[in-house]
Amino acid sequence: MRIKYRKSSAFHCNAGSRCSISVVLWSILACILMIHFIPLPHQKNEESRLRLCDRLCTREFEVVEEENFRLPPPRGKRNPRAVKRRGPGKQHTVIDEFLDESSDLRPFFFPDQKLAIWPARDGNDSKYFYPGRLWMDTDGNPIQAHGGAILFDERTETYYWYGENKDGPTYHAHPKGTARVDVIGVNCYSSKDLWTWKNEGVVLPGVESNFTHDLHRSNVLERPKVIYNDKTSNYVMWMHIDDANYTKASVGVAISDSPLGPFTYLRRIRPHSCDSRDMTIFKDDDQNAYLIYSSDDNSELHVSRLTDDYLDVTREMQRILIGQHREAPAVFKHKATYYMITSGCTGWAPNRAMAHAAESIMGPWETIGNPCIGGNRVFRVTTFFSQSAFVVPLRGHSGVFIFMADRWNPSELRDSRYVWLPLTVGGVADEPLEYNFGFPVWSKVSIFWHRRWRLPVG
Ligand code: DGJ
Repeated sequence: MRIKYRKSSAFHCNAGSRCSISVVLWSILACILMIHFIPLPHQKNEESRLRLCDRLCTREFEVVEEENFRLPPPRGKRNPRAVKRRGPGKQHTVIDEFLDESSDLRPFFFPDQKLAIWPARDGNDSKYFYPGRLWMDTDGNPIQAHGGAILFDERTETYYWYGENKDGPTYHAHPKGTARVDVIGVNCYSSKDLWTWKNEGVVLPGVESNFTHDLHRSNVLERPKVIYNDKTSNYVMWMHIDDANYTKASVGVAISDSPLGPFTYLRRIRPHSCDSRDMTIFKDDDQNAYLIYSSDDNSELHVSRLTDDYLDVTREMQRILIGQHREAPAVFKHKATYYMITSGCTGWAPNRAMAHAAESIMGPWETIGNPCIGGNRVFRVTTFFSQSAFVVPLRGHSGVFIFMADRWNPSELRDSRYVWLPLTVGGVADEPLEYNFGFPVWSKVSIFWHRRWRLPVG
């Protein structure tokens, strides 16, 4: 039987079958989906090229590199400062040697200027990172951005590295006090490639005259972190604020409408009335941001959600890693899991890093082992003679990050070095305390030692 349909509502098929509008609509939808999801040959090539590149880069990062050094034989006369630090009869360790400014091993840990990474001098050909070497900015001066962090600014498509300017004399405020440098301020450097850094100057300066100001040079300003607030269009900086004895134990907040500053210092708080020392800030994909800080005399960490304008903490706070005595937190996220690297609490002396993981940033957090791989045993128990500062996601390379750390030089803090190394997430964690159906819950976090390494081209 032939049925006539009105032109506007249906087609008439010669085969006699009825091709309704819905069939046509479904076909169109299917085509659209196919175009969207089934990559064209050139897209396929590009994607597999990227995947291959990703794998190759990661493979290169994951090569385990050994490091050897021999402890010099005990000398007749040892540096009196080192003897005092250790006690006269105590065994001399590699860490003592590292901290001893007159040690023969000194150039191994703090290579001299001849070996500096110097983009302006060496050109753009190598782009190698050399952990521990001096790193020059585009003016040829050593980069001063210690305890720092990197912000990738979408608006300017530029990386900004903020950190402590420690370019002043190191001294002890009290005979038993820790080594310090007066507050000069927070420096900012800009870069397009994470290797060549232009000095953009001091974006939050220390205060000279007002003795009662938090930023007075006699105080402490450490670990500045900057995030962008999409709602208020402000760049917000959080930092550890303290007095020379580390008894103020607070966090400071500053804002600017430009990544290049100047930042206006707003105030200092004790979050939730708790002491707060080493800290970091983490901005999540949903735009919520969190302050993570060492508290209760560094015995635990706290995670506090920030208010929507990022200028204060909300009431939401969780105590985590209770009794673990961790500091120098650096938080990052991969595939809906939160990770954190922390250090132990040994002042400027290096110690063993730990990785931690959580399904929610508010916890519970679980400690999943020492992430350091390669070098040698001493390298691994000293975080390659450095301390965590920040972890930067490598854009376009899922699961690959840059671990930023400080190799502190407590006898000359301005000469502290940067240890940047590739960090990957994948494989089985060393100390997965929890299992799900016999499988460890967490992926492994690995930081690979490399004497030199570079980012994937392009
Ligand atoms: C360790 C911290 O991580 C550093 O930021 C600094 O505060 C030193 N302690 C001071 O000894």
